[in-house]
Amino acid sequence: MEKIVNLTKNRGFINLSSEPYGGFSSCYDYGPLGVELKNNIKKTWWDEMTKFHDNIVGLDAAILMSPKVWEASGHLTAGFADELVECKNCHHRFKKNDLKVENKQIINSEGQMVCPDCNGKLTAPKKFNLMMKTFIGPVEDSASIAYLRAETCQGIYMNFNWVQRSMRLKIPFGIAQIGKAFRNEITPKNFIYRMREFEQMEMQFFVHPSEADKWFDFWKEERMRWYLNLGMKKENLRFHEHSKEELAHYARKGFDIEYHFPFGWQEIEGIHHRGDWDLSNHSKHSGRDLSYFDEETKERYVPFIIETSVGVDRSLLAFLSDAYSEVEGGRTETTKSTKDVEAILKLDKKLSPVKVAVLPLVKNKEDLVKKAQEIYKLLKVKYVTQYDEVGSIGRRYRRQDEIGTPYCITVDFETLENETVTLRDRDTMQQERIIIKDLESKI
Ligand code: GAP
Repeated sequence: MEKIVNLTKNRGFINLSSEPYGGFSSCYDYGPLGVELKNNIKKTWWDEMTKFHDNIVGLDAAILMSPKVWEASGHLTAGFADELVECKNCHHRFKKNDLKVENKQIINSEGQMVCPDCNGKLTAPKKFNLMMKTFIGPVEDSASIAYLRAETCQGIYMNFNWVQRSMRLKIPFGIAQIGKAFRNEITPKNFIYRMREFEQMEMQFFVHPSEADKWFDFWKEERMRWYLNLGMKKENLRFHEHSKEELAHYARKGFDIEYHFPFGWQEIEGIHHRGDWDLSNHSKHSGRDLSYFDEETKERYVPFIIETSVGVDRSLLAFLSDAYSEVEGGRTETTKSTKDVEAILKLDKKLSPVKVAVLPLVKNKEDLVKKAQEIYKLLKVKYVTQYDEVGSIGRRYRRQDEIGTPYCITVDFETLENETVTLRDRDTMQQERIIIKDLESKI
């Protein structure tokens, strides 16, 4: 994990928020390569949802919503709170549920749970609501309290009727949304795994109650397939079914997709059977009928919701962990003799932040540099492309391998004679000689 964190820091992926001030409250900034990787993850998810399924449409709702939304959804009451315990001896704090999930529960001879770090006695659990508060307008009183959304899906429920009618959608159909969410986590941890400001990709699928189980199974498999199609190793993925105690307050049934991180198996996505919880509660609290009328069967009902919900940051960490690999002693010709370890990010090509690097074999030959820059300019309007002329060619390949660039194009002396370059594949290191005008179609 330390190696991944260092790589993302050193190579422009992820930085602490407010870094000159020492960082801030488990918030992180994405640098030039991080934002490309993040955008690529979001694009594959968005395309999967809105293009490859013809009954799912997109939405971008506001982060700030009426506080009544959060009252009706149950987020302001006990439903959306974590239980915190503190060691009376070393004062380390733990989320009670984490101790259980991570198998860190230690029970002493008196049958009490004790601190996993020093065996000290723990305080009684105290509940903390996770909603982030702010104020709307100039006066900071109870009437102006608002909340930063804790999950993006509430914006989808607010627009369910409007989207269904304006797009003339028939059940079953889905609404997909990507956006920021905020939670006042009591124990943020593991780099970008649990943050206070993060991004979610959520899809709410509205179904007839009698078909909810069928669609639940469908989406569970579809979502697992998404990770596998993007090259994630099968052995690092598994389902975890929620027990009664683990189920969220809105869920009738829930499965997590878990990833085997360097720090253990942890949730990256939740698939939830939310029943009619959301639409019924919002109907009750708002006084607006959020039911659906089926023109064909003449039946009116409150649709059930099957939700797929994944954290962008959390899945990004899983993709990075899965792609990170090392070769002891180096693998490229000129670096083979070095004793250190060569890192390669074997990201799926769709996800790689930089797609192509253009490298003149040497930098002190004017013709070579000119030709390489020409090729760079040609490609950079199509793909995220880097131009690099600094250091030996082996070192430059290595720098690209480390950030997961699938293709390196080398411009050499033969290029000047016959308009060909070499195209190097990150994973096989095979180099193919190819005519410049064929580069685009090849890539
Ligand atoms: N709408 C349902 C919902 O929000 P959740 O299980 O609380 O369900 C869904 O969250 C996903 O959002 C998680 O699987 C995770 O990927 C991401 N997520 C939740 N809290 C997070 C946090 N504090 N930091 C980063 N990602 C988080």
